Amino acid sequence: MPKSSDKTKQQIERLVKDLNDHCYQYHVLDSPVISDSEYDLLYRELKDLEERSGYSPPDSPTRRIGAPPLEKFEKVNHTMPMLSLGNAFSYDEVREFEQRIKRYLKTDENILYTVEPKYDGLAIELTYKKGLLHRASTRGDGSVGEDVTDNIKTIKAVPLKIVGDSVPEVIDIRGEVYIDIREFEALNREREEQGAPAFANPRNAAAGSIRQLDSSITAGRKLHLACYGIGFVQGSAFNSQREFIQWLKGARFPTPSGMQPAEGIENVIKAVQNIEERRDTYPFETDGAVIKVDSFDTQKRLGMKTREPRWAIAYKFPAHRGVTQIKNILASVGRTGTITPVALLEPVRIGGVTVSRSTLHNWDELERKDIRIGDTVIVERAGDVIPHVIAVSKDKRTGEEKVFHPPENCPVCGSAVEKGEGEVAFRCIGLNCAAQVQERIKHYSSRSAMDIEGLGEKIVALLFSEKLVGHFSDIYTLKKEDLLNLPRFAEKSAQNLINAIDKSKSTTLARFLYSLGIIHVGEYAAKLLARHFEKLDDLYRVKAEKIITIKQIGEKIAASLEKFFNDEENLQTFETLKSFGLNLSNPDFKGMEEEALPLEGITFVITGTMPVARKEIEEDIERLGGRASGSVSKKTDYLVAGESPGSKLAKARALGVKTISYDELLEMLKIRAG
Ligand code: IVH
Repeated sequence: MPKSSDKTKQQIERLVKDLNDHCYQYHVLDSPVISDSEYDLLYRELKDLEERSGYSPPDSPTRRIGAPPLEKFEKVNHTMPMLSLGNAFSYDEVREFEQRIKRYLKTDENILYTVEPKYDGLAIELTYKKGLLHRASTRGDGSVGEDVTDNIKTIKAVPLKIVGDSVPEVIDIRGEVYIDIREFEALNREREEQGAPAFANPRNAAAGSIRQLDSSITAGRKLHLACYGIGFVQGSAFNSQREFIQWLKGARFPTPSGMQPAEGIENVIKAVQNIEERRDTYPFETDGAVIKVDSFDTQKRLGMKTREPRWAIAYKFPAHRGVTQIKNILASVGRTGTITPVALLEPVRIGGVTVSRSTLHNWDELERKDIRIGDTVIVERAGDVIPHVIAVSKDKRTGEEKVFHPPENCPVCGSAVEKGEGEVAFRCIGLNCAAQVQERIKHYSSRSAMDIEGLGEKIVALLFSEKLVGHFSDIYTLKKEDLLNLPRFAEKSAQNLINAIDKSKSTTLARFLYSLGIIHVGEYAAKLLARHFEKLDDLYRVKAEKIITIKQIGEKIAASLEKFFNDEENLQTFETLKSFGLNLSNPDFKGMEEEALPLEGITFVITGTMPVARKEIEEDIERLGGRASGSVSKKTDYLVAGESPGSKLAKARALGVKTISYDELLEMLKIRAG
């Protein structure tokens, strides 16, 4: 490598500074001063100089891309846990939030808050050491996340270096990575064309873009960042959220749009309303407003309950609604043969998203709501779910509307349609129904199942119509040459798909069980099975009575599993898959012995004023297997006493029942929950 002269070094540093300034102007301030092609020219000049001299500063924009793909994400321990937020669904619940705070602080003085939009994205922690971006990690379970540094670096709004005078030694900055609604729609259109499954909402799109082992995929997605929080910090101190946000701005970090301070809860509510009014004008999806106590000192005094801080809450906006017309109703056939009605809508923009289809759930609902073709309907989009029709405007009827009946024959294969006893669903009984077969293959290859990248809707349809696959086990017989004969494939894409198929052969038993698409067996049930059955073979010819001994698995699931694992053809399929190299590990296995829930057999009574709703505490206790009772008796194990406990405390003392505080209960829940 030739040694760089001082002059070249200076030139490089100048270019890095200029390009970073432009990057900030464009991606954070949204007001570029040079054109894209001028930027590209400067960038190429820098890249060229860096290559020739072998010198590239750590904050050079050339370092944002080109990291080699990873094998897996490394785990990252968060120095301070990344918490989630409690929700308020009404202004009264916002007022209760403030009441709790005042009770806790034993004060009646007005409190200063900040109010900011809640971004619908993925929480990220950025760790800077001596001002340089050291690592970026996902929230994960709050304590342990994943190292996604290479991916985060591709987001141009993320500073690689903190500018300004007061640069802390170490600082964890938290924020949300998100995708704009328009980008989200464009990305889904593109994915549809490529046969990849669409993302259900902008949050999934952001998360899916960050959880990529190959950062060049992330680089191709137009992701943004809004920083709103702080974790561990050393060598600097901030007194309040407002002060911290000011510092972030000065240090060139993007911060939430329209953050407002508000003193007293009624002003908080006004600020929330203000954000809600502007909701549709934001380019990003927001499903609420986050209210935070401004003072960090007060935040510290308030602390947290199990996983949420006491000093912040998310007010959730009601779902977006729109009015449109049903152009047609289709009967769509799912993986298990279930036939569901789907409404094709006159496209309508609802909260910034174009909606043209809506599930009608089931035929009973269609009848109950009396939904007809041609009806004017109110459609709701709740941020993260598929839009659904909530009501019909019957006053708009002209008499031309048509009732749509469940089909007597499957619209895809023509087989008979049956309605199971006590079920609302109609099912196509055709075992080889093309729709079912394709849906099963799609499910088998989906991300939470065998995770075969590139085997989406369009490719499955193509492979099926070319008779290359008729069952999911046929996937493993595919050869590169077969793919190369098809219109959608070139050398690289064919090889990628073959590699992805090959990779899927080594997976966990839980994933595989879920992939099979057994009726009523979702991801959670599959995990429970893997916990109790060590190998796939242990499930061969299993009886429902055995499965039902697993707590949380009911009769319906047990019966479905018995049917599935006593079918010789299914067992034969397993043997075939094994001969293709299916190799299942089972990290979930714990054995058939049921471990008791941590609070099983322990009875609690709660009395006096609690910092959170009593119902919430009781639910926590019950979730861990305990019992929450209303009155003290000899059978009571613990009395949880808050302020002004009254007669129950006296009775507990008389009976010798142990009394604990709310904080002691929390400790107990935490310890016992492991
Ligand atoms: S503050 C302890 N501010 O919402 C407080 N969170 O439902 C932690 N989020 O995990 C978060 N916008 O991923 C905060 N302006 C905002 C936010 C925000 C979106 C996300 C964040 C958090 C989740 C909680």
